[in-house]
Amino acid sequence: MKLYEVADDVVETGVLIAGAGAAGLLAGIKADDMNVDVAICSKGLFRKSGATVMSTGGMEVAIGHGDPTDNPDVHFRDTVVGGEYINDQRLVDVLTREAVERLVDLERMGIVFERQEDGRLFQFAPGGAHARVVILGDLAGSHYMVALNREVMRRNIRVFEEVMITNLLTTNGAISGAVGLDIKKGELIAFKAKAVILATGGAGQIYRYTSNPVQNTGDGRAMAYRVGAELIDMEMVQFHPTGLAYPPERRGTLVTEAVRMIGAYLLNNKGERFMSRYDPERMELSKRDVVARAICTEVREGRGTEWGGVYLDVSHVPEDVIERRLGVTRRKILFLTGMDLAKEPIHVYPTCHYFMGGVRADPDCSTKVPGLFVAGEEMGGVHGANRLGGNSITTLIVFGWRAGISAAKYAKEASFRPISAEQVAKERERVFGFLGRKDYIHPSKVRTELQTVMWDNVGIIRTEDSMRTALGVIERMRSYDLPKVGVPDGSRRYRMDWVEAIEFENMLDVAEMVTRSAMYRKESRGAHTRDDYPKKDNKNWLVHIVIRRVDGQMKLWTEPVELIKLKPPDV
Ligand code: FUM
Repeated sequence: MKLYEVADDVVETGVLIAGAGAAGLLAGIKADDMNVDVAICSKGLFRKSGATVMSTGGMEVAIGHGDPTDNPDVHFRDTVVGGEYINDQRLVDVLTREAVERLVDLERMGIVFERQEDGRLFQFAPGGAHARVVILGDLAGSHYMVALNREVMRRNIRVFEEVMITNLLTTNGAISGAVGLDIKKGELIAFKAKAVILATGGAGQIYRYTSNPVQNTGDGRAMAYRVGAELIDMEMVQFHPTGLAYPPERRGTLVTEAVRMIGAYLLNNKGERFMSRYDPERMELSKRDVVARAICTEVREGRGTEWGGVYLDVSHVPEDVIERRLGVTRRKILFLTGMDLAKEPIHVYPTCHYFMGGVRADPDCSTKVPGLFVAGEEMGGVHGANRLGGNSITTLIVFGWRAGISAAKYAKEASFRPISAEQVAKERERVFGFLGRKDYIHPSKVRTELQTVMWDNVGIIRTEDSMRTALGVIERMRSYDLPKVGVPDGSRRYRMDWVEAIEFENMLDVAEMVTRSAMYRKESRGAHTRDDYPKKDNKNWLVHIVIRRVDGQMKLWTEPVELIKLKPPDV
């Protein structure tokens, strides 16, 4: 059997990148800087791919213009305290130190952040941190993406648009390439690559309500798992406090934290600023996990609005401030809800926003699988049990940059490993097996069921019973539904229900990792809240929950967190 008989195209590249958000693009630019051949695959439309473009807030950089007491050590402390001490402190150290250097690089690329009148940078305070977020109005994400895409095009880096990497290929345990589906043509591409960088972002789509784009189905985490990489902290899923609760068809859409940064109040149906009961000092700018849990509790205890949320009220802030800082957000909310936030409160409820858990990596972004690197949200361990607002973009930039350099260095020293036609044929059979299945279960049916089950049972507040329910459904889906998931025969071009079927298997893997890890951790910490274990337990649970596939089974174990720089006060 020849490779060309089982793949419609064969592409050779030094570094292959799955994902074209800020982390993937920056990784591509840095690898190109090192004269290594690069190919970037974007599952969605290039220039519109990923979650970065949706980011309205800015990035955390400790340059001390907003708060003279701030510096990388303070940023480190905020991030670790915010993460409830289970962050990988090696990664936090890199994040907080290199953010400052990367800020200068970004400005050189044309991403020029807002200044104060004296020329120093303007910096906001997000929940749980010092005034450290540099901003670009409320459109930072678009600015990053315009500049990075322009740079990728200027360098003529190869981009495979609307190509979904469906599985990684390994030879003798090391990366040898990957297989991709060209969604436009419905054809299979075999990539021979010395190194692969996974930068596919989060997996918010495993939940019914999410701020994440539709492509965020956890592909990278699932693929890494299938080739034997380790994943950590998968129980730690961030629910951003303010997703839209009204109108129902827009539920989950993000309302940026910047609304609270300019002074918005959270009110229950009695008109109380209820955060005074949960964090009287920081109030609405408490940590995200605290605010999300508070909103959830208010609604559960009957103090919610008629739309199952609470009120977010910024109408007391002068209109010119709202317009200057949140003009785009104001118009977006007006379009989506028919409500003008400068004049009336809107209804909000937490929405699945970010995965703190992901593929385990060293500070150079390498994983346990030789040749496999990760960047951005794909990387687990940076944020521990809760991420601070604005630290997401910092992660994309710092670790996108590092991943590009590390993968390029690796590719320069490695030679291509052979990939066999049999491996690719097997993947072709899996991918094409979803097409033309008889008595099929449509992927959208099981996808919706999975999202609902995860939201109801492994969401903001969890219990052993609720998670057992979810695991039961996941196990049933894997053994009974998955073999039947498919779509009827027909054109393969832009066959999005086919793509959904492929994504569903990834979603199932990620949902199982989240559920099993959440069941394993018998305490409450950060974003992981268990009604049956409501207390944080530093004596027994200052650990990472690690996952790896061993003999086809999902194995979980714990490893102590290395407290190399900072310890909790009671340890
Ligand atoms: O609320 C926001 O604008 C989101 C920012 C972030 O997740 O860092």
